[in-house]
Amino acid sequence: MSGQKIDGRAYAQTLRGRVAQAVEGLPAQPALAVVLVGDDPASEVYVANKAKFTVETGMRSLKHALPADTDEETLIRLVRTLNEDPEVDGILVQLPLPKGLNSDRVIAEIDPDKDVDGLTEVSAGRLSLGKAGLRPCTPVGCVMLAKEQLGDLSGKHCVVLGRSILVGKPAALLFLEQNCTVTIAHSRTKDLADVCRQADILVPAVGRPQMVQADWIKPGACVIDVGINSVPSIKHPGKMRLVGDVNYLPSKKVAGSITPVPGGVGPMTIACLLRNTVLAACMRRGWEMPSILDF
Ligand code: GUN
Repeated sequence: MSGQKIDGRAYAQTLRGRVAQAVEGLPAQPALAVVLVGDDPASEVYVANKAKFTVETGMRSLKHALPADTDEETLIRLVRTLNEDPEVDGILVQLPLPKGLNSDRVIAEIDPDKDVDGLTEVSAGRLSLGKAGLRPCTPVGCVMLAKEQLGDLSGKHCVVLGRSILVGKPAALLFLEQNCTVTIAHSRTKDLADVCRQADILVPAVGRPQMVQADWIKPGACVIDVGINSVPSIKHPGKMRLVGDVNYLPSKKVAGSITPVPGGVGPMTIACLLRNTVLAACMRRGWEMPSILDF
């Protein structure tokens, strides 16, 4: 017996289709502003993909590219201008920023109602208080994939491995919002393998290649692997390949379902960003939320 592979690419495509359908029904086209500082090649690829899918789903993509030596005041001035622009629904500042720029200070300037990354303190506060707001994209993608696989998550034991601000903490709160019993495990957790083995839903998000072994997984569990780690390829010497935080092939034999890396959680992040852009537009402009985007 082998667990089912959860096809994040296919689910992300379906979600983008739902976003496009939602956009068609809106009174005007939402716009997403993406700010890229410097010329980091990986960031350029991410930003290009975000722009492509924004346009593909019928929204406007506004790119602001600034040189690597941009000073913090200039960047903050741009964010403030975007905050004030009634045409802009979502603002995303691509991370990491070049050395010398304090990302916390820059993110703090984003209007929480346009914070499609869900990274501001206000967005984090709204999430922890259970109030309406924009939620971080990758954790939302994790919950969507788990629900797609298991249906109602009420009463399931979800173990989130990792406590980062970007993924671990918000993922734990989002699974709690789904009425899961949630454990956050981390580097200081005792008997980590035993804790993971109790999970109906295991969400490793630590950035340690293939740390989670097959015998850490409860038979039949749903495994949502958030890790994206680049490691030297054995098959192709001199090349790198991507692996998750889970030792995939042996774990797939034990799990009920499991996300691959690549092709699992990764593609969900941009799809959830597009969804957030629609939600931000609806909230700020007083439009009805399209129920097609519920999960
Ligand atoms: N860099 C890599 N992923 C992300 C993301 O989801 N949001 C932002 N702002 N920067 C990133």
